[in-house]
Amino acid sequence: MPADPAALRLALAEEVAAANPTLDSGWRDAVAVVPRELFLGAAAFRPTGAGWEPVRRAEVGEDEWLRMVYSDRTWVTQVEGEDAAEATGAVSGSPTSSATLPSLVVRTAQVAELRPGQRVLEVGTGTGYSTAILCHRLGAGNVVSIEYDADLAARAAVHLSEAGCAPTLAVGDGLQGCRKHADYDAIIATCSVRSIPHSWFWQLNDGGSITTTVSGWMLAAGMIRLVLDDEGTAHGRFTGDTITYMLARPHERPPSPSFFRLDGDSRSTRLDPGLLEEWAGRFVAQLAAPSAELMTTGSGIILRDVATGSQAWTEPDGDGWTVHQHGPLHLWDQVEQALLLWRDAGAPDLTKFGMTATPFEQTVWIGSPEGPGWQLPV
Ligand SMILES: C[S@@+](CC[C@H](N)C(=O)[O-])C[C@H]1O[C@@H](n2cnc3c(N)ncnc32)[C@H](O)[C@@H]1O
Repeated sequence: MPADPAALRLALAEEVAAANPTLDSGWRDAVAVVPRELFLGAAAFRPTGAGWEPVRRAEVGEDEWLRMVYSDRTWVTQVEGEDAAEATGAVSGSPTSSATLPSLVVRTAQVAELRPGQRVLEVGTGTGYSTAILCHRLGAGNVVSIEYDADLAARAAVHLSEAGCAPTLAVGDGLQGCRKHADYDAIIATCSVRSIPHSWFWQLNDGGSITTTVSGWMLAAGMIRLVLDDEGTAHGRFTGDTITYMLARPHERPPSPSFFRLDGDSRSTRLDPGLLEEWAGRFVAQLAAPSAELMTTGSGIILRDVATGSQAWTEPDGDGWTVHQHGPLHLWDQVEQALLLWRDAGAPDLTKFGMTATPFEQTVWIGSPEGPGWQLPV
């Protein structure tokens, strides 16, 4: 029997709702009606392990394509600026756009506590799928969406119009917000940020909210909803979600030179470097060394500071691990001290972390604003 898009859409909506029992039925209904196949266009990338290969609708056939489209998974649509529809073969590099998995689209809206009638700025239109979901629930007249990449934005505009949605669309850097259409009751980002951009504070109504994933160059991330008080300070607590979005383009790591281990001060570590492979441990490490990137080697970890070139690398030494630190920053000392504070606080998951933020100072803390805390790079 040929695949029926309406039936597949409904099944996807039921699957998403079953996995998230507290989801408002309005979001389930939006998944049940928004035609995701329209937004995915003619091709997407599939991971190969070493890179990405294009999968074309015309080649896989309509049934297989619809089953792909209506699975609850992210489909990468652009890698290093190259669109799947234009790729002539496999490509390598990092995704620069995707159709986010539907469960995360509605989870973000759920965390944002969006209600019909609220005026929302979405940062990262991408394919336009999440924009269509927002339009369905909030009314297109209340949705503004901004995309960095002009070609993607143009394609999303066509697909949204075909789907019968007419939100306000803009092209540009959403880290500057979208001033022309401010003020907003809520800003939600479908890309992650290293810290909350200044403009988002200025473009929100009092009591407005910001929902985003806070991430960084170790690719650790936490989802949070921050609410702005009438003095201009935003407060919030992280959720426990262990999923994230790609970094906003202006917050991406600069390209890295080749890495060579350099000798330096050596000592035994007090903690297992494997803690950095855990979600919360890595998040704490990133807070402690926000301009460092992390590589794992199988037998240890490497930290390299993008700004200063400082490095720290660990190796097993029989009983434990030895760390070698080179350069002006002692990266492992920073990370280890933070991990010890986290451990003393009971090694909590991200639901025990919160954030207090102004445009000028942003602190992520454990427990309460008086607890151990780290400043984000603003
Ligand atoms: C995960 S994709 C978005 C998924 C999209 N919401 C969907 O459902 O198809 C992230 C998008 O954010 C865009 N982006 C990255 N940085 C941005 C920025 N500073 N301003 C606006 N868009 C940005 C990327 O180009 C990409 O299309």
